[in-house]
Amino acid sequence: MTSVFALTGVTGALGGRVAAQLAATAGREDVALRLVVRDAGRAPRLPGAQVVESPGGYADGPGLTAALAGVHTLFLVSAAEAEDRLTQHLTAVDAAAAAGVQRVVYTSFLGAAPDATFTLARQHAATEERLAASGIRWTALRNAMYADFVPFFATPVDGGAVIAAPAGDGAAGLWPGTTAPTSPRRCCGPTTRRSTAAPWTSPDPTH
Ligand SMILES: NC(=O)c1ccc[n+]([C@@H]2O[C@H](COP(=O)([O-])OP(=O)(O)OC[C@H]3O[C@@H](n4cnc5c(N)ncnc54)[C@H](OP(=O)(O)O)[C@@H]3O)[C@@H](O)[C@H]2O)c1
Repeated sequence: MTSVFALTGVTGALGGRVAAQLAATAGREDVALRLVVRDAGRAPRLPGAQVVESPGGYADGPGLTAALAGVHTLFLVSAAEAEDRLTQHLTAVDAAAAAGVQRVVYTSFLGAAPDATFTLARQHAATEERLAASGIRWTALRNAMYADFVPFFATPVDGGAVIAAPAGDGAAGLWPGTTAPTSPRRCCGPTTRRSTAAPWTSPDPTH
């Protein structure tokens, strides 16, 4: 029987790459791909992939539940930064549970914990907690900072640019990035000490 594997975030860098890689194997693996997007006009054109529009994104629980009907596994890309980002994540997890999704693979963050210094790592921890409470089998990909995001940290100062974070001595674990080839060997530019992506966490490694 064919399983439906849905992905969000496919109009973006990370989800787009994951979707393209899965599309290359989906037909051979009894897996049907479903791309869940806010705007179908911007969905990638991938062979055999179904496109389902859910214009309200993660904020629209009922809309997302409908878009996920019949889905076995959901690759859930974290939302863009927003004041209500955590609420959106929790709504998305609840929508997956309501739709009967059996497994969620969520893009979390390195060091996700309720008491993390990094605000977004606390949000990811809260999302992981909701997944744990949902009854769905789940995997959190605790990716580090994406290397291709570093230029966005730069603040113009006196005709130059200053990168003031991460704080302390500035050491940071960077992930290869969402737009670059994903081999860790290719990640280490001048601003990168080393790649410290923690591959996944889950309540049960067999999940
Ligand atoms: N680890 C890091 O260093 C780092 C850095 C930046 C971002 N991130 C996180 O990682 C995610 C993926 O990174 P990326 O580089 O692929 O980002 P990206 O290119 O900006 O793509 C983000 C994707 O997520 C979708 N999305 C965002 N907010 C959504 C919402 N509320 N509801 C439904 N879909 C939503 C976007 O859909 P639309 O096209 O409809 O907007 C887009 O497809 C980001 O969304 C962000 O949460 C992590």
